[in-house]
Amino acid sequence: MAAKFEYTAPVNPEAPDDSLEAKTPYIDHGTGRVDAERYYSKEWMDREWEQLWTKAWLIAGPRCDLEEPGDYFTFEIGRESIIVTLNDDNELRAFYNVCPHRGNRLVLNESGSTPRFTCAFHSWCFDLDGHCERITDEETFRPGAIPARPKLKTVHVEEKGGLIFINMDENAPPLAERFGLPDGYLEGYQLDKMKVVRHVVSEWGANWKTGVDAFYEVYHLHAVHPQTSTVMDDYGTQIDVYPHGFSRMIVPLAKKSPREDDQASVDPGLAYMLSEAGMDPEAYSGDAVTVRQDIQQFKRRRADELGLGWDKLVDGQLTDSWATGVFPNVQIGLHPEGAFLMRFMPHPTDPERFYYDTITLYRPVDDESWKVPDWMGLPEGTDVSGDVRAEREFVPFGVQPDLGLVLDQDSELLPVVQKGIRSRGFEGPLWSEQELRLRHFHAELDLYMDGKK
Ligand code: FES
Ligand SMILES: [Fe+2]
Repeated sequence: MAAKFEYTAPVNPEAPDDSLEAKTPYIDHGTGRVDAERYYSKEWMDREWEQLWTKAWLIAGPRCDLEEPGDYFTFEIGRESIIVTLNDDNELRAFYNVCPHRGNRLVLNESGSTPRFTCAFHSWCFDLDGHCERITDEETFRPGAIPARPKLKTVHVEEKGGLIFINMDENAPPLAERFGLPDGYLEGYQLDKMKVVRHVVSEWGANWKTGVDAFYEVYHLHAVHPQTSTVMDDYGTQIDVYPHGFSRMIVPLAKKSPREDDQASVDPGLAYMLSEAGMDPEAYSGDAVTVRQDIQQFKRRRADELGLGWDKLVDGQLTDSWATGVFPNVQIGLHPEGAFLMRFMPHPTDPERFYYDTITLYRPVDDESWKVPDWMGLPEGTDVSGDVRAEREFVPFGVQPDLGLVLDQDSELLPVVQKGIRSRGFEGPLWSEQELRLRHFHAELDLYMDGKK
């Protein structure tokens, strides 16, 4: 087989080579298969903790969750909890959520605002830079016991494109050396102007990579989510791979799958897309082929009128999902109206469980005619004013998370896939080029596991 094997054309063949929309150069990851063991072995899981989770830059949360000095949230990963906060100079700080005195968890709530962190066990206090401000009855410590006042142990923290990343490795390279997306890629979406309107953490019966793999391809849409075929072009999805295990799919929306027999009529799916964009489907004179670009033009005009600053986005970004993989465990569904930050978090002890942590970000627009798009799937009554941060909801194992039809379909599927992967009869996945992002992700993971990163 030739090294340059491509089965599909770019979504926009006219895109200049240096644009964010252009197809990235093909990377040949071969045709081999990975060992199924990585999806269920406890030993693999333990090595992942040492080689991956404690070495890689990880998305701790969106930057919009911290507004003022003293605002903080915790990021839970494996058995660790990390406090992310803003110090008095509005600079990001991150610490292990542990008191150096006797190891108590310093912060017990998920988020809040405080001038200092006070331990609930013996009331030691730490400022927002992690310096110890106060030791209760300090005179009762012999000088050798606390030669210097102990600080909170810091974790590297950096911001990029409206997201906060942490790294537990003391010798971590700067984020820029591990961040694979081109400059301006995330920034164009102005995530910093968005607010968290929903945050659900649910526990699923599969390995976290079984989750990543399923969300990194649209090859399964026709079978698992057949209802999407009148509004998503699965087969025409553009697949791009970036350095450091990052990747992207451009999924054309408001466009039928070529699997649909009727390619011409504006069916209820497309009518829904028109009306969600603010257009009147009854009055629409085009056909199925023109819907996507007409929606783009309509949204463009409206965004210009409202001064939303979408001029840095190409037309395709106004309709399509740029589903973007941030190595190792994140996919962000990017849209100018909002974004879906999906994190596949490892379970602390069980390789066949993971937490699907999904944050819905929404950009509030101060205009009466603006309404939150229905396709964002927010429950009735969701506060989208941007004034309140949604509470983190936790859905325990075995309870259907109620995340909308598509995600419900995935959450039913994945535990079944996990059981099959575990079978003695399964010899590792066979990936197509529609699943190139999976090869790319696992190749990067192997670099970490082999100690090469
Ligand atoms: S454990 Fe925190 S003050 Fe004692
Ligand atoms: Fe799915």
